Amino acid sequence: MIDLLDLQKHFILTHLREGDIAVDFTMGNGHDTEFLSKTVGETGHVYAFDIQEAALRSTAENLKKAGCPENYTLIHDSHHNVKNYVKEPIRAGMFNLGYLPGSDKTVTTMRKTTLPAIEAAISLMDRDAIILVAIYPGHAEGEAEGKEICEYLSGLSRYKVCATRINILNSPTSPFFILIENKP
Ligand SMILES: C[S@@+](CC[C@H](N)C(=O)[O-])C[C@H]1O[C@@H](n2cnc3c(N)ncnc32)[C@H](O)[C@@H]1O
Repeated sequence: MIDLLDLQKHFILTHLREGDIAVDFTMGNGHDTEFLSKTVGETGHVYAFDIQEAALRSTAENLKKAGCPENYTLIHDSHHNVKNYVKEPIRAGMFNLGYLPGSDKTVTTMRKTTLPAIEAAISLMDRDAIILVAIYPGHAEGEAEGKEICEYLSGLSRYKVCATRINILNSPTSPFFILIENKP
């Protein structure tokens, strides 16, 4: 059976290489930050965002334990402010929307900031870049967020980016993800 997380990494690795710049737009416990940090190595850099201090603490600890190179900047701010911090083109961006795993579920990603953040991420794309957005439609905000993101991306020119949706047809409330790619 397909493992969606492995598949996400597979697609990221078709674009991201050592020395590149990457952004984790939803740091959480830092699993995606760790993957990005190890992929871009000492000569690359990863910027990671979260609005919860608990996420920054947990990620800082996890990255140290995992032996990541010191190639990351952990930012306590909303991802829609990315351009205040990231001034260079990015090769990869990851959004893993929803709740911080293990939290009390009072904080989730919200359409009003997720959409501007995706827009900003697209405007920061270097050539041959990829943005991955994982969506969790099993709760009300996640479902609405997924719909708006799909509508927004469906309206973009295919000469600018290619947006592909990967989902499990016979499990409509399961997580799905979207790849946004541009030309090499
Ligand atoms: C599903 S978790 C991410 C999991 C994470 N990538 C990992 O590897 O552990 C979603 C995270 O998005 C964060 N978040 C919610 N709104 C945000 C915003 N506006 N800007 C940045 N992060 C946000 C939440 O605090 C939560 O930690």
